[in-house]
Amino acid sequence: MTLQIDTLPELRQLLAEQRHRRRTIGLVPTMGNLHAGHASLVSAAKSQCDYVVTSIFVNPLQFGPNEDFARYPRTLAADKAALAQAGCDAVFTPAVSALYPTGLEQQTRISVPYLSSLYCGKTRPGHFDGVCTIVCKLFNMSQPDVAYFGLKDFQQFFLISRMVADLQLPLRLAGLPTVREASGLALSSRNGYLNAEQRAQAAAIYATLQQVAQRIQVGERDFLQLERLALARLEAAGLRPDYFQVVDRHSLLPAQAHSHQLVLLAAAYAGTTRLIDNVTVETPLAG
Ligand code: PAJ
Repeated sequence: MTLQIDTLPELRQLLAEQRHRRRTIGLVPTMGNLHAGHASLVSAAKSQCDYVVTSIFVNPLQFGPNEDFARYPRTLAADKAALAQAGCDAVFTPAVSALYPTGLEQQTRISVPYLSSLYCGKTRPGHFDGVCTIVCKLFNMSQPDVAYFGLKDFQQFFLISRMVADLQLPLRLAGLPTVREASGLALSSRNGYLNAEQRAQAAAIYATLQQVAQRIQVGERDFLQLERLALARLEAAGLRPDYFQVVDRHSLLPAQAHSHQLVLLAAAYAGTTRLIDNVTVETPLAG
């Protein structure tokens, strides 16, 4: 059984009791419509912490005006069953009015400058400010020992790590590997928007990432040329690429001549659904 908590005072009381009993707390922030990727975060939290809280909150502050906030899938009953199965102790399901009582316009925001404006931030202006703000609020509300995130959202994880460092937040972050379908497609709540044809096209994102990773592993270093090839392959598969970028894993900036630990970031539309994925890769000289 997973305990459901809707209000902040109840959450604070529950977690104060746990801390009083010297139990460590793991937090898994989500927007719900849970799948095996989310469950892997809960399982990791359960294996490392005494008490696990998953938050389910479709955060309006991180959606643009023409994005899918209104139609984002809300599947609380199924989510609660999945959380019970994964061994989650409590699920926090606050109302929008409780987290943004003065509205979105007046809300204090957390912003990691510059890096938030690149890649996904270019297409989704303000998105990462919305993410960092809600994640910082969730950290303050639950004060976890460890918070769990998926590396599927690599830029998100990088920016949250930077926020935690810059604000000296007293917690540890864990970044977990991407859970995929057999086709290689990364699990995502937005996969539910895809029809059968789009789902087949979407598998080209991971296939392209892997192909480029292999070429880098055997010594290719013309990243611009590889990016162009990757965009063409995504297009040939019937997708509309947003970006494909080889970045330095430690700076999140476009890879330079001296970069050897890399991440390949990709975003593409299947129909109107925007999908993202990434893989890490080391050049032959990485040491
Ligand atoms: P959401 O998309 O629900 O994802 C919640 C967490 O699950 C994130 O850390 C995400 O990286 C991770 N995740 C998603 N798909 C995954 C997969 N296939 N394998 C492993 N992990 C996966 O990301 C958000 O929500 C929001 O931006 C949030 C951080 C909750 C702030 O609102």
